[in-house]
Amino acid sequence: MLLPLLLAGLAAALQPIVIEGTDFINSATGARVQIVGVAYQPGGSSGYSPSTGVDPLSDGPTCLRDAALMQRLGINAIRVYNVNPDLNHNLCASIFNTAGIYMLLDVNSPMQGDHINREAPWTTYTAAYLERVFRVVEAFKEFPNTMAFFAGNEVIDDFESSVNAPYMRAVTRDLKLYIAANSPRYIPVGYSAADVRDILEDSWNYLQCTTTGDAGDASRVDLFALNSYSWCGNATYRSSGYDILTSTFASSSVPVFLSEYGCNEVDGPRPWTEIAALYGEEMRETMSGGVVYEWTQEENNYGLVELSDNGDIQLMENYNNLQTQLGLLDFTVLEGQPGRNRPVTPPTCEASLIQNTTFPTNFTLPATPAEAVTLIENSLDGANQGRLVTLTSLRVEQGVQDAGGADIVNLAVEPVEDGEVNSPTRTGNGGPSTSGTGTATGSGASGSASETGAASLVGVKAGGVVVGILGLLMNL
Ligand SMILES: *[C@@H]1O[C@H](CO)[C@@H](O)[C@H](O)[C@H]1NC(C)=O
Ligand SMILES: *[C@@H]1O[C@H](CO)[C@@H](O)[C@H](O)[C@H]1NC(C)=O
Ligand SMILES: *[C@@H]1O[C@H](CO)[C@@H](O)[C@H](O)[C@H]1NC(C)=O
Repeated sequence: MLLPLLLAGLAAALQPIVIEGTDFINSATGARVQIVGVAYQPGGSSGYSPSTGVDPLSDGPTCLRDAALMQRLGINAIRVYNVNPDLNHNLCASIFNTAGIYMLLDVNSPMQGDHINREAPWTTYTAAYLERVFRVVEAFKEFPNTMAFFAGNEVIDDFESSVNAPYMRAVTRDLKLYIAANSPRYIPVGYSAADVRDILEDSWNYLQCTTTGDAGDASRVDLFALNSYSWCGNATYRSSGYDILTSTFASSSVPVFLSEYGCNEVDGPRPWTEIAALYGEEMRETMSGGVVYEWTQEENNYGLVELSDNGDIQLMENYNNLQTQLGLLDFTVLEGQPGRNRPVTPPTCEASLIQNTTFPTNFTLPATPAEAVTLIENSLDGANQGRLVTLTSLRVEQGVQDAGGADIVNLAVEPVEDGEVNSPTRTGNGGPSTSGTGTATGSGASGSASETGAASLVGVKAGGVVVGILGLLMNL
């Protein structure tokens, strides 16, 4: 039986992730961090609804349920595509923080005016657009688990749309300057590319190169990511073309990772055999992990979990298989490595860097609109700024079922230690979950998640650590 252990007044647990050379580094420990991520956009595009005040990080109980289930997989980052900068994200951000999970945030939305229109970027790169983007920074800059912002997602996806490359560099520049001038800490900015091999390498080079002769060029990306679906079913490192991706990016001057992966073209639950390759010896030197696409089952059939209308949730075989594959990795080794701090020299921006004659070679960027320059200099007035809050309960109230239909009971978020990042090893991930044998079955304090405004949290910890100690004593 579990003896709940009360840990009162824990300080905010996660420490910011910083980039050193081509590594993501846990600033608390100096260790390299591999992203074990999942894309989080419940409801697909309808999960973002400005008219009803909903986005994926606006409902505490939903985030608590999902964070608890992600935690037992070993997830350490979520990617959220569309956030509304004017909503209150305090509970969700605090819950993911407590669970040891970082947030990778796209700054755009599908609404008109909220993104660069790839057909006509020159009409949509405006001060009003940049103000939106800066509001996203304001909304998330105070959270320690805000890991990075994506300036764009698959905006350049063929030769016609490669005309957007200078605009992606321009938005990157404006974001970086805004963050440097107006955020309490620097937060990295990157780009998420389509894995279209004809333009992938040119996109990466265009965005990572320097026009100033050093890494400090404001318009360079801090990181480069790609959405890759080339590993389907039981593919191999070679048959998937992952070998080519790895050799392509081996010389990167910025961290590279998969911002989406998880091909579903082979019938049946996905086996996730790419996990062994992605985090294995062949790829991990070059790649910093990846983000599984995606958390909830939507019409396009990429989910790990099925949502009911009443908020109940059922795990899918996709979830179990992912848990199995992640459980086979030794994350204490994988994440215990100090950063390599390799000196990296970005390539110089020049026409010869670009292979395809159709891809832009003009590195003179569109100028920042004058009103946006003023915003960078003076910061946004009265913008909504999120803050960590006290969580009064970490217990999941919704119904949760395993893939076989059995109830999973006593599910709760288990607070990580100070500076500790969630990982498959930490949660004792040892394979598919069934009811009663879950590894994150801590019982929580009663009461519903609520917000009190203080920057500490009170939680109840049980499960892994306590069981481990008791188990050890009993064995002696
Ligand atoms: C350049 O673009 C063309 C047209 O899409 C493509 O067929 C070709 O393979 C590309 N060349 C390189 C070097 O990427
Ligand atoms: C993948 O390999 C596993 C283990 O060998 C096997 O059980 C499974 O049927 C294979 N899946 C496909 C789609 O080939
Ligand atoms: C390069 O782009 C800039 C900014 O859009 C533009 O002013 C300039 O004319 C372009 N140069 C060439 C050679 O096309």
